[in-house]
Amino acid sequence: MNYSILFVCLGNICRSPTAEAVFTRLAQDEELSPLKLQIDSAGTIAHHAGEHSDHRSISAGKKRGYDLSNIISRQVIECDFENFDLLIAMDNSNFTNLSQIAHQTGQSHLIQKIKLFLDYSTQTEYTEVPDPYYGGSNGFDRVIDLVEDASQGLIRQIKNI
Ligand code: 4NP
Repeated sequence: MNYSILFVCLGNICRSPTAEAVFTRLAQDEELSPLKLQIDSAGTIAHHAGEHSDHRSISAGKKRGYDLSNIISRQVIECDFENFDLLIAMDNSNFTNLSQIAHQTGQSHLIQKIKLFLDYSTQTEYTEVPDPYYGGSNGFDRVIDLVEDASQGLIRQIKNI
């Protein structure tokens, strides 16, 4: 059985590509058969579409053993709501934006597929993955910490499907 997850942030150059790379790597280490996972990421804006991930995300990931180098930014498209089983928002504004896109494209019945990533997390300090774009390098390391934790939680949940 195929199971597909789309990680979503604003620009698809920092948080959601990090989530795509981390989740893909961590899921590879798990016995999830008969589930065949399809993992992708996208942004709610098109501003960085066609670009590689932010170099700070690529190097923060590389230090921790995650490869973002082949991920190219793309914008969320209408059929993503049909094509993916889960659309995972990094923060509340991504969640709201996704809900609005679903409404505007006549897909309100698919809003239930949208989840907030840190709802799968075990830590309680953060409820959203903070946008690291305008901050220092520690913001990029924090993204990886939060994404690793929430990915493990999501993997535990998927194992029960
Ligand atoms: P991301 O970070 O949503 O985690 O990819 C951002 C990337 C670009 C911008 C903002 C946040 N921007 O304003 O261009």
